[in-house]
Amino acid sequence: MDDIKALTQKMTLEEKAGLCSGSDFWHTKAVKRLSIPSLMMSDGPHGLRKQEEGADHLGIHDSIKAVCFPAACATACSFDRTLLYEMGSALGKECRAEGVAVLLGPAVNIKRSPLCGRNFEYFSEDPFLAGELACAFVQGMQGEGAGVSVKHFAANNQETRRMSVSSEVSERALREIYFPAFEKVVKDAKPATVMCSYNKLNGVYASENEWLLTDVLRKEWGFGGFVVSDWYAVSDRVKGLKAGLDLEMPGGDEENDKKIVAAVRSGELSEEVLDEAVERILRVILPLSKERTAPFDRGCDHKKAVSIAAESAVLLKNEGALPLALGEDVLFVGEFAERPRFQGGGSSHINAWRAEGALAFAEGVRYVRGFGTDGEGTEEDMKEALAAAKEAKTVVVFAGLPDRYESEGYDRTHMRLPEAEDRLIDALCEAGKKVVVVLHSGSPVEMPWIGKADAVLEMYLAGEGAGEAAVRLLTGEENPSGKLAESFPLRLEDTPSYLNFPGDKECVRYAEDVFVGYRYFDSKKEEVLFPFGHGLSYTTFEYSDLKLSSNEWREGESLIVTFTVTNTGARAGKEVVELYVSDQSGEAVRPVHELKGFEKVALQPGESKQVKFELGGRAFAYFDEKTHGWRVPNGKFVVEAGASSRDLRLFAEVAVHGRAVAFRVDGDTTVEQLFSHPATRAVMQGLLKKFRPGSSDDKLGDTDREMMRAAYLQAPLRTVRLALNMTMEQYEGLLNALNGAFEG
Ligand code: BGC
Repeated sequence: MDDIKALTQKMTLEEKAGLCSGSDFWHTKAVKRLSIPSLMMSDGPHGLRKQEEGADHLGIHDSIKAVCFPAACATACSFDRTLLYEMGSALGKECRAEGVAVLLGPAVNIKRSPLCGRNFEYFSEDPFLAGELACAFVQGMQGEGAGVSVKHFAANNQETRRMSVSSEVSERALREIYFPAFEKVVKDAKPATVMCSYNKLNGVYASENEWLLTDVLRKEWGFGGFVVSDWYAVSDRVKGLKAGLDLEMPGGDEENDKKIVAAVRSGELSEEVLDEAVERILRVILPLSKERTAPFDRGCDHKKAVSIAAESAVLLKNEGALPLALGEDVLFVGEFAERPRFQGGGSSHINAWRAEGALAFAEGVRYVRGFGTDGEGTEEDMKEALAAAKEAKTVVVFAGLPDRYESEGYDRTHMRLPEAEDRLIDALCEAGKKVVVVLHSGSPVEMPWIGKADAVLEMYLAGEGAGEAAVRLLTGEENPSGKLAESFPLRLEDTPSYLNFPGDKECVRYAEDVFVGYRYFDSKKEEVLFPFGHGLSYTTFEYSDLKLSSNEWREGESLIVTFTVTNTGARAGKEVVELYVSDQSGEAVRPVHELKGFEKVALQPGESKQVKFELGGRAFAYFDEKTHGWRVPNGKFVVEAGASSRDLRLFAEVAVHGRAVAFRVDGDTTVEQLFSHPATRAVMQGLLKKFRPGSSDDKLGDTDREMMRAAYLQAPLRTVRLALNMTMEQYEGLLNALNGAFEG
């Protein structure tokens, strides 16, 4: 028996039940008699939201001062694993120094709709990107001896009715879109805890969902930490424990502990199930609560926050207006220049250590307010801005979404900026000025003035270094290198979840299935404002020389993809290169392509580097609901390399030898299915020769023959029997022959 099991055996039933819920808002219970310490958790994760008094999960009461790093909506655009690792490691050190054992994040939910109020906390619409970056972040944090809580598991993609709504999602969409980021982190970074979400998944609360918490998370992915409930997410405690929910948070109410004790006493709950939960909690608590100190320097972390913000911002458009020399002829407009919006509202809200606006770093420029950070501006404000602009060569408008537009707890209802901002940007463009728009938003906005503005720099919610980073990018001290981790639609109505977001009273149907974000827009060739993966630089890059290690791929092998990227401009810069895989086998309905690799490459002017990717089976696979497993089709795939999902520069074909689709032939099998398989095609040809030797098709015209052919191909075998006047005996013989052909 190991130490943890032995310790569990020493605990009374009441102590064990008690350990499965917190002592207060942020702590687990200590068991002094057995020297079991209490463990502290704090929100974040782009900073520490450690509350000493006045605890809440809505960002209302203050927390200690802490460095506010950029939120995930921004850091995802860095496409830079090393950067995320470093940010995680800085936060890990801060946690240890502040006595926080577990930081509640990262949040890896997928951006299903641009309206979700918490999108600013989430990484991407793409599960591969979200998983890779979150994994690096967790490795960085846990490498410092701090724990994380990967959240919110699962299918928590909206705030509307988040505590009761049932997300109705196909298993395929869960496996291909909503799970992989969790799966990647669990398998490769071994997080201390996973937080289950508030919502129901296909009718069952995540906190009571045995399939989710035990079958998938533990048995399939090998999760070894404990599952904590989102705050107040527990409905039926005993059911939850049986399903695999170990720790209920927050604590303070003993009722559920009593229910656990009673359930064990009555035999409703096996004590072994409780013991397992206790052991899982102890296995995390004990190592994380060891006395630790960590050197950490706020000034240094602040600098890191500035540079992460600069690496993450996305230059969306630039028609020669940037970079810019700052001086008298440059006018800054918009209160965001004084006070950038750099984080979102709710439980992730950090009490920022030091936040300054761009104005503080832009000596010599002129400034008028134009509109407030609440998005409001009067006619007077507008006139004043237009008058000041007369003297300016370039106007930089610091625009963005006000706090009330985006927060945990509710969703947006539209994608527009406040009217006063759109109006002023438009008027400045109409006045013939060079207009640069700097955006502070946690998610995409419509840009009715996009055709008129000269440049747009999306800072996202860039943390306390947002102002300094923006100036560095505007002036060219830093070269923009972020790329969009989500598509910017032209209109809300264009988005794939439009008709099913946020659903009705009790449920939200994920009817778009796997067609989320660019998977939908690109498959439908729908025009977007800016595509997934898009981002400009002050230099230019060329892609060349795409090579595959083989033009065939078989199960168990790795396909090595290499190509060269060259900086063809005059400045040093970094290019995010993207690798997509397109299944052209036709076996299943799939998105036109999916991201399967990315790298951020730093290049001096004229310099070239080769990038290398390794693709395994999962890069080609889709999730087959019939067999509940991943399946690699048989057929042609195309590997695409490029600068965005719509700017593909290089292509190469590969013949993928997956598993042939095995199926049993029966009366519902169609003629087309049988003709498409070499094994059964011969049997079918023999059949036609026998039963329709002199086909009367000759008398038909081309169109009729085509129609006959199409109808015939779709016919199931039971219909073929009738059409060919086969006896039952002949028909059964045919079924046997066809199934035999497969097996043989
Ligand atoms: C949020 C979590 C957060 C928790 C604790 C909940 O409302 O959904 O993300 O970690 O509160 O504040």
